Amino acid sequence: MTVWRVLAGGLLLLGLAEPAIWAADQPSPVGEAIYRRGVLGSGAPLEATRQAGGLRSKGADAACVNCHQRSGLGASEGRNLIPPITGMYLLRPSAKSADELDLPYVEGMRANRDPYTEATLARAIREGIDSQGKPLSYLMPRFALGDADMAALIDYLKRLDPRRVPGVTDTVLHFATIITPDADPVKRSGMLDVMQHYFAEKNSRQMVPSRRMRPSGKTMYSKTMFMVHRQWQLHVWELAGPASTWQAQLAQHLAKEPVLAVVSGLGGSNWAPVHEFCEKSALPCLFPNVEVPVDASGDFYPLYLSKGVLLEADLIAGKILEAGGGPPTKTVHQIYRAGDSGEPAAAAVDAALKRHGMTVHNHVLAAGTDSKDLADALRAAATGQALVLWLRPADIAALGDPPAAPATVFMSGLMGGLERSPLPPRWRASTHLAYPFDLPQKRIVRVDYPLGWFRIRQIPVVAEQVQADTYLACGLLAEALSHMVDTFVQPYLIEQLQGMLEHRVITGYYPHLTLASNQRFASKGGYVVHFAEASGTKLIADSNWLVP
Ligand code: HEC
Repeated sequence: MTVWRVLAGGLLLLGLAEPAIWAADQPSPVGEAIYRRGVLGSGAPLEATRQAGGLRSKGADAACVNCHQRSGLGASEGRNLIPPITGMYLLRPSAKSADELDLPYVEGMRANRDPYTEATLARAIREGIDSQGKPLSYLMPRFALGDADMAALIDYLKRLDPRRVPGVTDTVLHFATIITPDADPVKRSGMLDVMQHYFAEKNSRQMVPSRRMRPSGKTMYSKTMFMVHRQWQLHVWELAGPASTWQAQLAQHLAKEPVLAVVSGLGGSNWAPVHEFCEKSALPCLFPNVEVPVDASGDFYPLYLSKGVLLEADLIAGKILEAGGGPPTKTVHQIYRAGDSGEPAAAAVDAALKRHGMTVHNHVLAAGTDSKDLADALRAAATGQALVLWLRPADIAALGDPPAAPATVFMSGLMGGLERSPLPPRWRASTHLAYPFDLPQKRIVRVDYPLGWFRIRQIPVVAEQVQADTYLACGLLAEALSHMVDTFVQPYLIEQLQGMLEHRVITGYYPHLTLASNQRFASKGGYVVHFAEASGTKLIADSNWLVP
């Protein structure tokens, strides 16, 4: 028996008769590097030229991913459609009957040109000539690729083909939401209440027809005109125990209940294990409620509404450095509780200010709410020009007397309760809140929408901002899925969200949302505000919307 026959026999015995699926699990490092990063097999940068102007680009700027997207399913850029280029869209042999050419619908698909062969595909990439000998538009660059690189690239395009995605059946779309054990119980119930109502409502809606393309480019109404209304099913993954065990728990959940994406969710001060798990598992993790998201710009699958306390840290550090006409700030004190979200935020301020030669003293209170250590820390912090408080409402309410020296005080709005923060009256004149949302009076119309929705469904408002963000996350998911028709591909879900966010009108607490392809935080800025009066919730912005 030859080695080959042993191998083939073994595959059959194992039930792995599908060589395509078998091959799909092997990495294609060279093809992927060319496609995503613009790096050739030799390590040299990919080079792109545009026939007309002779315009050149190189390396990451020339990579296919910039236009054809991570999924390979293309995009619509204004009026230009960038076609899908995964193997099946390019190479699928001419269909004998229409039903045979049954490709998932994507906007830029070219259903009516001849299929490519590997040779004409190589010609398209090198010379910009399509399968029928016609020139491709100048928007598609030409790439000088050697034979080995070309083979690896084409191989990678085949691997990009949409395949069976976890969590998708003919009748159900499965989603998860993740809650860490340190999450606030009040916010947890508020979030779940919104999600459960949203899913129930989604499932009671009318059926909608599925669209698929005929080779003629017309919507196909024959065999595939089945009425699909996939139910949305929510799985609540509640983590327990120490953070070091969360990834293993998530792997078990995902194995037991495969899902298309993670939606919303709630964390405490440490979301990193969840973030890493989603990135590693190619699982979209859409807009969780977390104060401390992970700022890893190279990652693709986790998306956040805002950078949370890390954004507040940028806003506060920016204000301190600005020194607004007064005497320059030299010494800054910060107070936070060990293990809470203020810890990473204080570290970010510390790093930013020390880079400018300032002295920063960090006063760490023991975890919990004992206010005696707070009084000690405040006494010790009375000497500097600025004081930064990363404290929860219980500590804020217990602040006592403000510092005697004319120190400027900054505090985290997110941690301290935003405009409902119990900041004592005598602190109000000197205290500035980082406010990573639109101002209350400016967001009324946008927030009234979810609030009205909650009212009609009798959902108690127990954590307004978290619940409004949860409603926003569900709405963004629904809109992205409606754009996807029935092409359920995980990177494509991320790309749809990126494409649609900036046109979104109902953006809840945020004035505006955008996600360029290298961005993970949809709202980029915030205000620094102070209270207008000794009591009440009225705020005055110190300046315009700031994008640090
Ligand atoms: C700057 C944007 C851009 C980049 C980068 C880019 N393409 Fe394209 N590509 C396009 C556009 C736009 C078209 C559609 C051209 C047309 O309409 O004639 C296209 C068309 C194609 C087609 C023809 C599709 C069809 O259905 O006929 C192939 C194949 C292709 N690109 C492969 C690639 C590969 C492989 C890379 C990376 C090596 C790449 N492209 C990089 C923009 C780009």
